[in-house]
Amino acid sequence: MDKITPTREDAYQLLTEYNKSDSLIKHALTVEAVMLHFAELFNEEDPEKWRVIGLIHDLDFEMYPDEHCKKTEEILNKRNWPEDYIHAVVSHGWQLCYNVEPVERMEKVLYTIDELTGLIAATALMRPSKSILDTEVKSVKKKWKQKGFAAGVNREVIEDGANLLGMDLEQIMAETIKAMQKAADSIGLKGNI
Ligand SMILES: [Fe+2]
Ligand SMILES: [Fe+2]
Repeated sequence: MDKITPTREDAYQLLTEYNKSDSLIKHALTVEAVMLHFAELFNEEDPEKWRVIGLIHDLDFEMYPDEHCKKTEEILNKRNWPEDYIHAVVSHGWQLCYNVEPVERMEKVLYTIDELTGLIAATALMRPSKSILDTEVKSVKKKWKQKGFAAGVNREVIEDGANLLGMDLEQIMAETIKAMQKAADSIGLKGNI
């Protein structure tokens, strides 16, 4: 079978076929929004590809958490997804659960922002507004330093990612917040604003 060029619609359908958890779907939508934002920021040629990769990156996590990335690779291969899409998706597990290094800029962004979105969302939910709309970089930086806060968020991975990208962590935080603000409604972070 020939490889397909997956559209956003294909990716969303596949995502919801394998995932029923509201929080996982919201995480996927969050990462999608951030990937799209960075593609536009960098004037990338194919922003659709970036968002598709973001949306599908944790495809197997609900059903196969112990084989994370490996199962996604199998599923996407069966669905005739192109090699470069699959490489991009599985490289977000580098140093965590899968031995494929992020090489392309798209892969480095995914690697960096995946965990970061978790820290930012947790920071937003601590605010009186419970909203991403009034969440600022300085609050996220404060929470970054409190190792016990959102302790599951791997700060080292985010730092490694920023180094791979050659970008300042603060700038990455600011752009990630902006992206999440644009998607506030669909990712459930509008709060009471
Ligand atoms: Fe993951
Ligand atoms: Fe993820």
